[in-house]
Amino acid sequence: MTEAASVRLPVVRQDDDARPRRHLLGISDLDRDDIERLLGTAATISRSLDREVKKLPVLRGRLIINVFYESSTRTLSSFDLAAKRLSADTMAVRSSGSSADKGESLKDTALTLAEYDPDVIVIRHPHIGAPDLVARATRAHVVNAGDGKHQHPTQALLDLYTMREALGRLEGLHVAIVGDVLHSRVARSLIEALTLVGARTTLVGPPTLIPRGIEQMGCEVSTAIGDIEAADVVYVLRMQQERMSAGAAYVPSLREYAAEWGVTPGRLRPGQIVMHPGPMNRGVEIDPRVADSDVSLISTQVRFGLVVRMAVLYDLLAGGPTGDGLPLEVA
Ligand code: CP
Repeated sequence: MTEAASVRLPVVRQDDDARPRRHLLGISDLDRDDIERLLGTAATISRSLDREVKKLPVLRGRLIINVFYESSTRTLSSFDLAAKRLSADTMAVRSSGSSADKGESLKDTALTLAEYDPDVIVIRHPHIGAPDLVARATRAHVVNAGDGKHQHPTQALLDLYTMREALGRLEGLHVAIVGDVLHSRVARSLIEALTLVGARTTLVGPPTLIPRGIEQMGCEVSTAIGDIEAADVVYVLRMQQERMSAGAAYVPSLREYAAEWGVTPGRLRPGQIVMHPGPMNRGVEIDPRVADSDVSLISTQVRFGLVVRMAVLYDLLAGGPTGDGLPLEVA
């Protein structure tokens, strides 16, 4: 063995106090000031994206790992691009093709990835609480990109940003959330976020798809589709057939659901805007004539998803309440 080959590199580990961690596991991790700060940061970042060179150097040398154990187009692509636009290194691990296929547990996967010393782990998982497990197993900041039907906090933040850009305010807005609330993490995060910013939420859908007691989250409930007419924003939820247990009849058929609960041009009034987190079941919960119309902000939500996720990553690693990181203005 040569002398050089025998040299052992010292293992340098930061202790926990050297890197205080903040997570975004759910909307309950935020207060109203946090939401205002994140939306303000997203607005600042949005201006930088009008430039020819869109990359900001603020997270150079940082590592962001996207761990996705459930399908995603919007959330995964926007977190990946958000990290790259902030100059961070990125890696993606998906359940299919990873050692999860061989039966490796999420904890062992997290411990394995932790050896690369990631700054942020973004995780989507079908099981409620998976992001908390990763937060306990690693020293990374953890962002929940959707866990079961529990929470999807960055979706709620991008939805608030979209509403505020479109309507100029959040306080006092009336939002009707329509459809499959029972299986929706998007709805749970959005109800909490709208309540925090002083907006009013009405859930509208068939009784089988509205969880009992959900009014305790601070929203109203209606089983009359006509009640969406009173809202400023009609927020349509996807029918989540993959989360509906086989044999359980939540609705007689998708055709009847579309007829009774689908958001059609005739069910909207002038001046309303329509949103949907995607992916859509066209012709089921939303009529294509609505999805493709001028009142639809569905594409805008995707565009704003990028700047809001950039704001979340920046806030965790360089901004935050103390704002003592690299300022965005230097970019
Ligand atoms: N809204 C949303 O989470 O979309 P994806 O499943 O495509 O990420």
